[in-house]
Amino acid sequence: MGRRSHRLFARWYPKAAASLEDRGLGEQRARLLGGTSGRVLEIGCGHGANFAHYPEAVTELVAVEPEERMRDLARERADALGREVTVVDGQAEHLALENDSFDAVVATLVLCSVEDQDKAIAEILRVLKPGGELVCLEHVGSANRAIRAGETAFDAVLWSHVFGGCHTARETGAAIDRAGFETDGLETRKFPTLPYPLKVSPHLVGTARKPK
Ligand SMILES: C[S@@+](CC[C@H](N)C(=O)[O-])C[C@H]1O[C@@H](n2cnc3c(N)ncnc32)[C@H](O)[C@@H]1O
Repeated sequence: MGRRSHRLFARWYPKAAASLEDRGLGEQRARLLGGTSGRVLEIGCGHGANFAHYPEAVTELVAVEPEERMRDLARERADALGREVTVVDGQAEHLALENDSFDAVVATLVLCSVEDQDKAIAEILRVLKPGGELVCLEHVGSANRAIRAGETAFDAVLWSHVFGGCHTARETGAAIDRAGFETDGLETRKFPTLPYPLKVSPHLVGTARKPK
């Protein structure tokens, strides 16, 4: 499948995102990833901001990332941390990975950007072992339908073009539920806490489980 590349975004995002790590994002990553173990797949790993937060209990880490610059930075990050990570080119919608083969799949700030969210979630479900977990930190659309309509319009004219294909109105929790996951472990929280209003503040946080 031909994906539109976002090379410019891949250049500026890593530096811009760094400022959020100290405003609670790093803490959220650590809390969420601290419970992962076994064979883990990360989709859309970007520059590898999650890598420092995986515990020793993770025995193998595979990371799929479509942007070349991001993959290079992710490999540099893994090397700097002395952590073995297999960083590969690919897209969440088409994972060249076996069925039922991962204990956890990690998606942080990426299900907003995949081109076909239902397909990506179906692929995540496919590669997870029965009982395996989708670990999620994703900004989602407002619960208010009128605000969501505004978000959709703003995405179309500006936001998605500037932010590497990101969409702010997605109902990601509903999509994960619809795909067949058990979603009791997911909740919506306002994040990050900033002194100014941020369009992408409602976040879906937690874990969804593939039924056994
Ligand atoms: C906002 S960045 C988040 C990066 C990282 N997950 C994090 O938490 O910092 C979104 C990432 O998703 C990647 N991405 C976009 N479309 C994708 C797709 N279809 N499959 C996998 N990754 C994708 C982008 O290249 C980018 O690295």
